[in-house]
Amino acid sequence: MTTTVEDQPEPKAGSHPSGDDRFGLVDKALKRTRYEQHALIEVLHVAQDVFGYLDADILMYVARALRLPPSKVYGVATFYSLFTFEAPGDHSCMVCTGTACFVKGADDVVRDIATEFDVPEGGTSSDGRLSLTTARCIGSCGLAPMVLLDDEVLGKLGSEEIRQRIRDLLATEEEVA
Ligand code: FES
Repeated sequence: MTTTVEDQPEPKAGSHPSGDDRFGLVDKALKRTRYEQHALIEVLHVAQDVFGYLDADILMYVARALRLPPSKVYGVATFYSLFTFEAPGDHSCMVCTGTACFVKGADDVVRDIATEFDVPEGGTSSDGRLSLTTARCIGSCGLAPMVLLDDEVLGKLGSEEIRQRIRDLLATEEEVA
């Protein structure tokens, strides 16, 4: 006999086998929306807020809870650029590549960071310490090239100075560890 996702019993609150409490928060969202399938996006948002990203395990959990085919849940999640599927790094570096920042060398900054810290644009370094993203104009053109390192705004700095800030940030963490 074959069982499908639809045959699976609805998970109880906090019932994920990993015992990860964060699934309990997803359960709350599921309950609040009464396990309605049309609440899929809302539940995925909660899951991403809680976990910081969506992986196959999380998507499967939501699919089972809402009695939806995993392919449907995966399809919806990948359709929206708001969702991310990779665990974020310990630190994030966002470089604005809008026109004003581009003129001030933002593309070089992205390339230099990617090379020095071995982190792909839009991804996370293999050691999980740094994520690198880019954005279109975020409204601080006077600070071009504008970089957001965690929650610190770095403006009007050259590539070397920006990378030094990143080095300092990562080194501080190593000293603490
Ligand atoms: S172009 Fe970078 S902040 Fe406007």
